[in-house]
Amino acid sequence: MRAVRLRSESGRAPFIVFEGIDGSGKSTLLVSIAERLAAETVPVSVTREPTGGRVGRLLHSYLTREYEADPGVAAALFAADRIEHITGEGGMLSMLCGGTTVLCDRYFLSSCAYQSKTLPMDYIIGLNSYPASLLMPDLTVFVDTPPEVAFGRIGARLLETGEARERFEESAGELERVRDAYFEAAERMVPASRFFVLDGSLTPDELADRVMARITADFKVTEE
Ligand code: TYD
Repeated sequence: MRAVRLRSESGRAPFIVFEGIDGSGKSTLLVSIAERLAAETVPVSVTREPTGGRVGRLLHSYLTREYEADPGVAAALFAADRIEHITGEGGMLSMLCGGTTVLCDRYFLSSCAYQSKTLPMDYIIGLNSYPASLLMPDLTVFVDTPPEVAFGRIGARLLETGEARERFEESAGELERVRDAYFEAAERMVPASRFFVLDGSLTPDELADRVMARITADFKVTEE
């Protein structure tokens, strides 16, 4: 069967990360990019952090406050979950080396942005230097949505689902801090040429068009 494959500079399939504050619209964007790539016959896999694995499940209960832990423990668990996500059986590295483009909802910049609420940025960067040495994103898409807009969207979603606010979703002010920390961490951890900031107030279609144009420009396309 003919398939269009994308290639990063390293020769493997591209690893594309989607980041943004809670309620930014990054997850919706990721799904629409996956659909568009699949429609072009690009082999693509969608994944997220925290994962659904053993450590990831513990982190989900930390986020809903069922499990209370020292922030240092949480930061270490996020990094541990990430390492498993990269190197584990069927993990991201094996997908990428097998030619599948991986779209990941959150990666190490999320740890820098969120865990820096209570921990020094240097410490979080240090914890993530091992996962970063194993796998750097070929492109990080940052959906930059105004914190008040994102906070309003979270509220509307919670009304619909009846769920409670998660840790880190408590106020627009906190989302603003997270946004600032994202930019600080991005400057320190990812090359500017691989950090793609999008205005989160664009329509979902406009956002997807821009990301698709960027993917086409950045990653060589080969037909098989
Ligand atoms: P999110 O990705 O928005 O998923 P959902 O739609 O299920 O709420 O939420 C995940 C939360 O996890 C978000 O508040 C940020 C937090 N988080 C960290 O604090 N550190 C990390 O390293 C990661 C990956 C996520």
